[in-house]
Amino acid sequence: MLGMAVIAISSCGSNKKKEMVTTQEFGLSGGKEVFLYSLTNKAGNEIKLINYGAAIVQIDVPDRNGVKENVTFGYDSFGGYEKGDLYFGKVVGQYANRIAKGKLTIDSVEYSLSLNNGPNTLHGGNTGWHSRVWDAQVLKNTDFPAVRFTYNKPDMEEGYPGNVVAEVVYTWTDDNEIIMDYKVTTDRKTVLNITNHAYFNLHGAGNGDILDHEMMIKASAFTPVDSTLIPTGELRPVEGTPFDFRTPHTIGERIGEEYDQLILGLGYDHNFVLDNAEEVDAVVYDPLTGRVLEVITDQPGVQLYTGNFLDGSQTGIGGKVYNYRSGFCLETQHFPDSPNKPVFPSVILTPEEPFLSSTIYRFSVK
Ligand code: BGC
Repeated sequence: MLGMAVIAISSCGSNKKKEMVTTQEFGLSGGKEVFLYSLTNKAGNEIKLINYGAAIVQIDVPDRNGVKENVTFGYDSFGGYEKGDLYFGKVVGQYANRIAKGKLTIDSVEYSLSLNNGPNTLHGGNTGWHSRVWDAQVLKNTDFPAVRFTYNKPDMEEGYPGNVVAEVVYTWTDDNEIIMDYKVTTDRKTVLNITNHAYFNLHGAGNGDILDHEMMIKASAFTPVDSTLIPTGELRPVEGTPFDFRTPHTIGERIGEEYDQLILGLGYDHNFVLDNAEEVDAVVYDPLTGRVLEVITDQPGVQLYTGNFLDGSQTGIGGKVYNYRSGFCLETQHFPDSPNKPVFPSVILTPEEPFLSSTIYRFSVK
């Protein structure tokens, strides 16, 4: 690992001296340098990002007594990111979640993607955007600390057509919001589904499971899956099912029910069809610490994944072990396998119209 010397400090927002971004060396990947960016807001809270996978590494936020703890999964050193394949905090592309049998057709041309999840493609394939070193730029003269990551994806990398330019700007506001602004362009018709794959535990990452967290998702339907977790194409109303989170329920309350989709998913590992009717799309509350996470997005769906495949094999920041169901993800997205499901909202990206989208993770206490 490279030395951790601070190599740059940038203040932003001239009248807000306390907000800043520091940059440290973090590692080397394929000859490219990986840096760790620490963003401190005016409230004195810090998040950390790296340009490998444009990932969120750490989010230190207070509980109701003001005690700060990291609430997201990450690794202390670059070695963890190189070995780990669970997408901790990373930006996932070119197609987040699954594409059935790694096949898609655009204008009668069939494209084949690598199969890295049983018979299917998951999260952009073996060397998706999560495993790339992105270019990085600390933004100046912004209201809050902000970093832009850019990835230039060559035509046909991992089988996806188009020279694609993907950009995500992370902004860390004084209200403890991580704003993720995405912009993606292409030079020829392709498909796109982009998300952030952060895992959260509002007790603090590595502090027990997340089954006692109270969750609300403003979604009246979800997309049931087959045994390989590919949507069947059905939009099933949540009414009367363990997938009804329109009012708060703990994650653990119904997760063990003998319900077909919980059995197939080994828990929750499903796309919810967001109502998109109010500002906030999902709220998670930890009664123990009082921490609250709100998720706000303009995307049509969100994947609730309850860490069903976590097995304690990953050791993260501070030596904390990430056990079974010790983290949840709320991956804002288009629906899985949309390229093969004409009834789902289109995921086609054309040279004429850039993809512009924003998702916010907002932290507070109650
Ligand atoms: C998927 C899970 C997968 C996890 C980690 C989630 O987005 O839906 O099935 O295990 O990512 O790869």
